[in-house]
Amino acid sequence: IPLQIVANKEEGAKIIATLISDLIKEKTAQGKKTVLGLATGSSPILIYKELIRQHKEEGLSFKNVITFNLDEYYPMHPENKQSYVKFMWENLFDHIDIEPQNVHIPDGTIEIDQIEPYCTQYEEKIKSVGGIDLQLLGIGRSGHIGFNEPGSAINSTTRLVKLDPITIADAAKDFGNKEAVPTKALTMGINTILSAKRIILAAWGKNKSIILKKMLEGPVSTKVPASFLQLHTDVTVFADKDATDELS
Ligand code: F6R
Repeated sequence: IPLQIVANKEEGAKIIATLISDLIKEKTAQGKKTVLGLATGSSPILIYKELIRQHKEEGLSFKNVITFNLDEYYPMHPENKQSYVKFMWENLFDHIDIEPQNVHIPDGTIEIDQIEPYCTQYEEKIKSVGGIDLQLLGIGRSGHIGFNEPGSAINSTTRLVKLDPITIADAAKDFGNKEAVPTKALTMGINTILSAKRIILAAWGKNKSIILKKMLEGPVSTKVPASFLQLHTDVTVFADKDATDELS
């Protein structure tokens, strides 16, 4: 997997944001929509900040952009402080000119008996707009991409999953304590992610260094779901120096 080491996450965020905005401009010039797969968490925050800056200062428009988010806790109300719906509007959508009907985020309020058809629909919606042009990813210390935890199958699609204990421990800071973190989530699958035409993964900081090594240098294994990215032909990993500490 091609790895681009950057001095810090500020520099990395600028590069990634510009790859995204160049794609939007190129497709818009061809009269086409751009379909973005988006992530939440700390890794993409500065990328979204830079996209907002380009919108406000350079006229970058999101009128022709369609987005699909990777995941949402389950159950989760969109008004809840920790919801990924809230995260995405606060950190990106509220500050750009995207059409609200072009935003898709898994719905954490879906009735349990409606989850299967809901997830099938999410997959179909992605396909109906021509698939994801560019998928943005972070990586969890469990090795997850999206919320595809260890044990996830390569052919998995959007579904309800159980969160790994490492993921719950890492989310505890957002929820106040471990017990308050939902034990489940809705997530795109490994197959959904690998179906994106292009993938960019951002890894910042020392606490990502061990899992980054496993993902890049270890075998392709369901024990490290991010290692499935080795099978994709257009992935770029952006990492800061700290995240590359364990690489050989
Ligand atoms: C978030 C997501 C997760 C995060 C990962 C890293 O939508 O799908 O896979 O990308 O947990 O989280 P941060 O960026 O907070 O370290």
